[in-house]
Amino acid sequence: MKKLGLGVLGLGEGRSIISGALNSELWKVVQLCDLNEELAWMRSHEFSLDNFTSSMDEMLANPEVDVVGIYTPDHLHATHILQALRAGKHVICTKPFLNDLSQAREVLEAQQQSGRMVMVGQSSRFFAPFTRQRKHFEGGEFGDLITVEAYYNADHRWFLKKGWAKTDAFKWLYGGLSHPVDLVRWYLPDIEEVMGYSSLSKNGLELGLKNHDTFQFIFKSAGGIPARVSGTFNSPVIPCERDSNMSCTLRCANGASQGDYYDLRYAWKMGGQSVVETFEDQDDYYFRFGGHSHHAGEYQNYIEYFARCLEAGETPKPDVREGIVTVALMQAMEESCAQGSPVKIREVLARQGLAELLPS
Ligand SMILES: NC(=O)c1ccc[n+]([C@@H]2O[C@H](COP(=O)([O-])OP(=O)(O)OC[C@H]3O[C@@H](n4cnc5c(N)ncnc54)[C@H](O)[C@@H]3O)[C@@H](O)[C@H]2O)c1
Repeated sequence: MKKLGLGVLGLGEGRSIISGALNSELWKVVQLCDLNEELAWMRSHEFSLDNFTSSMDEMLANPEVDVVGIYTPDHLHATHILQALRAGKHVICTKPFLNDLSQAREVLEAQQQSGRMVMVGQSSRFFAPFTRQRKHFEGGEFGDLITVEAYYNADHRWFLKKGWAKTDAFKWLYGGLSHPVDLVRWYLPDIEEVMGYSSLSKNGLELGLKNHDTFQFIFKSAGGIPARVSGTFNSPVIPCERDSNMSCTLRCANGASQGDYYDLRYAWKMGGQSVVETFEDQDDYYFRFGGHSHHAGEYQNYIEYFARCLEAGETPKPDVREGIVTVALMQAMEESCAQGSPVKIREVLARQGLAELLPS
């Protein structure tokens, strides 16, 4: 299998995909790009690479770059996806796929016209406890799904040091909550309606955050299954021995399971069995730079999945269509908070001429 050539755009969290690709037999890192030339130089030295640039156009003109990994600020993703597709590159774009639906149709059409693959880097799906939970559920023994609950609570006040995080364009609803929202949609792709409340915490306000950072939502699927998503991003969290920052619980007819980000735990109960599995021994694989704020292991898993899909002629998931519907769900969540009543995803998509993305 020929190695795929990777160009990395945005070298903050982009550091994680560089590490993932350098440790993979399926990839080679061709070029790094960041507007901040000093950072581009620093990253290339950190990984002993010699090809870096501050010009996206230069990287897109490089014929050895097959795939562009996009790790720029959330509100720039749509523009950067369009530029990469129009240059004939495949795209892996970190979450949130888009910051709103304003350019969604353009992105969908550009992907269709290019014939290139676009995958949303929903990293949590590729983290051991959640991957294990998914495979276990797909085995069928848990029986019918009754409900899903997912949350993400993190003390991310450090993130607000980034200039763009204090602008009106930055929204924790998209940047943070996209993780549990995607986990719920993985199990309930047919969510049709959402109701929720949100607020801006005093901590967030004092740090200069413009948009809300505290969220509680209820979803309803077309099949009548209710689900729940919540998150807080600017306050202390419970010790991880007791409660994980990010968690996904499935309650099913024959059993229940819970995937926990910390401490790489997966717990389940079925019949007479109560089991807690741990993937703690993989901590060094998942977290390579000290601390837990980077996601190299998850990214290595998803770029290898992407490469195998390309080789097999399959579409890597979540793809552009699934990604846009998740953004529509987040937009429906935002609208529900603003108007204090339930919002249907179909109506949000229809306003953008995208209702075709839902089954009729
Ligand atoms: N678990 C995850 O999947 C995960 C985790 C962290 C961050 N992220 C995502 O990664 C993205 C980046 O976050 P971050 O924390 O690294 O932010 P950051 O501000 O540290 O890094 C973004 C970089 O993009 C560069 N940039 C901006 N415009 C550019 C352009 N036109 N061309 C080249 N470079 C450009 C900036 O100079 C900056 O260095 C965000 O969308 C964030 O949501 C995902």
